[in-house]
Amino acid sequence: MYVCLCKGITSSQIQQTIDAGADSLRDLRETLGVSTQCGKCARTALDLLRQAGSDQ
Ligand code: FES
Repeated sequence: MYVCLCKGITSSQIQQTIDAGADSLRDLRETLGVSTQCGKCARTALDLLRQAGSDQ
């Protein structure tokens, strides 16, 4: 499922990045480009981070 349409990033790509050590929206932004355009994906990206046991 696409989380970030602007950058074409899927939830599994985000999950893999979290598994690889990303623990903040900033990390995801820097690594994948998530939430660098319209920002609509930020909430979902944060939810994925929370599910992984991280905050922010
Ligand atoms: Fe991610 Fe627009 S959907 S920046």
